Amino acid sequence: MSDLVVQPSHGLRGEIDLPGDKSISHRSVMFAAIAEGDTLITGFLTGEDTTNTAKAVRMLGIGVEGIGTASLVVHGKGLYGLSEPDGVLDLGNSGTGMRLLAGLLAGQDFFSVLSGDEYLRKRPMARIVEPLRQMGALIDGRSGGRLAPLAIRGGRGIRAVDYTSPIASAQVKSALLLAGLYADGTTSVSEPFKSRDHTERLFRFFGVTVKEEGNRVSVPGQQLLRAPGPLAIPSDISSAAFFMVAASIVPGSDLLIRNVGVNPTRTGVIDVLTGMGAEISLENRREQAGEPVADIRVRYGRLRAVEISGDIIPRAIDEIPVLCVAASYAEGKTVIRDAAELRVKESDRIATTAAELRKMGVVVTELPDGMEITGRESLQGALCESHGDHRVAMSIAVAGLAARGDTSVRDAGWIETSFPGFERLLRQAAYS
Ligand code: S3P
Repeated sequence: MSDLVVQPSHGLRGEIDLPGDKSISHRSVMFAAIAEGDTLITGFLTGEDTTNTAKAVRMLGIGVEGIGTASLVVHGKGLYGLSEPDGVLDLGNSGTGMRLLAGLLAGQDFFSVLSGDEYLRKRPMARIVEPLRQMGALIDGRSGGRLAPLAIRGGRGIRAVDYTSPIASAQVKSALLLAGLYADGTTSVSEPFKSRDHTERLFRFFGVTVKEEGNRVSVPGQQLLRAPGPLAIPSDISSAAFFMVAASIVPGSDLLIRNVGVNPTRTGVIDVLTGMGAEISLENRREQAGEPVADIRVRYGRLRAVEISGDIIPRAIDEIPVLCVAASYAEGKTVIRDAAELRVKESDRIATTAAELRKMGVVVTELPDGMEITGRESLQGALCESHGDHRVAMSIAVAGLAARGDTSVRDAGWIETSFPGFERLLRQAAYS
C-alpha cells in the first residue's frame, strides 16, 4: 500500500467539505433495508467500511442503487424482508459493520456468516455474542464465539432482554436494539456512560419509538420502520477532528469545516480542544435527519495540557489518537485515563500512537488505560507506520504538518476505510 509524505505547513486556510459520517452511514443503509419503502440517502460515506456494509445489505436480498457514490437508494422490504445470503458477508475492517449486522441477523430466521480482514478477526466479539445468545440467537464463532468469523442462526424465539453492559459501547447497544426489534416485549440496554446515540435518533427518524432514561435505552419490539424522506448525512466529526487539530497546531491557520455533525455524544473532541485553549467556534447551527449540524471554524491557538478521563472518553473515543497529537504540541503533561477500550480498536491505539509519536521525539508513557504525553514546541519529522489503522495514519500525518522536516506514513492506504480523499483535502487546506 502507498506511503503518505507530509511537509511542514504554514497554515491551514479556506473552507472544506468532508465525507459523510461513518456511524450514521452504516446505520442508514441497514435501517433502510428493513424499512417499508424506498429511502434516498445522501452524504453516504464512500469509504471501504461503509461500502462493505452496503454490499452486505445487498447480499441479504435488498436492492441498493449507487454503491460507490454518496447517494444511495435503498429498496427496503420491511422488518421480515431480508433473505439468506449465498456467501460470507465480508465486513472488511469494520467493527461497526460486523457488530451491528450481527444484531440485525440475530433477528433473522436464516443462516449467515460474518467475517472480515485480519485486523477485524482479532477484535473482541463476545461483547455482542453473549447478550445476543441471551436473547435466544444461535451464534458460533472461533474461540467459542469470541472471534469472527461468526455464524448466526436467529429469528424465531428471539426474546427481549434488559441488559446492563459493562462498557459504554454504541456498537453493543445498537446490536441489541436491532435484535430487539424482532422480539416480543421491550429490550433495554444500560451502560456506564452514554455512548453515541445515532441508532436512537435514526430509529426515531424511521418512525420507531425509543425510550431513554439516563443511560438506559429501551425499544419495544415488532415496530415497523417507515422509509423517511431524504436522509441527508452530515460530515463526520471524527474526520473533522484531524483538521481541527491540524489548524490548532499550525500557526497562521484559519479554517472553516462545513456541515459537520455535532451530536453532543460525539463532540468530546471540541470540548477537549477548547479546554486546551484552541480557538474553535460553531456557526450556522441547524438540524438534519434528527442530528445537530454546524460549520466549525478553527484558528491557530497556543495549547496547554489537560486531563482527559471519565465520561468524556466515550464522547471522544475515536479522536484520542489525534488528541495525542494536540497534546504533543501543548505546554505541559497531558494525562489520558479510562480509555482501555483504545486497546481493542483497529489497532491497540495506546501502543501504536505512543510508538509513532516517540519516533517524532515526543515523551510518552503508556498506562494500562491511557497515556501521559509531555508536549514540546516542535516535533521532528520521521518515518512512521500506520499499523493498519486509518486513524493512526491520519493522526501522524497531522503531526507532520507542524514538525521539522518531512514525515512519511507507511501503508497509508488504510485511510481509505473511513476517509477517502484525505490526502487531497489535507493538501488543499495546508498548502494553498
Ligand atoms: C461506533 C462506536 C464506537 C466507535 C466506532 C463507531 C459506532 O465503538 O469507536 O468507531 O458507530 O457505533 P464502540 O461501540 O466499540 O465504543
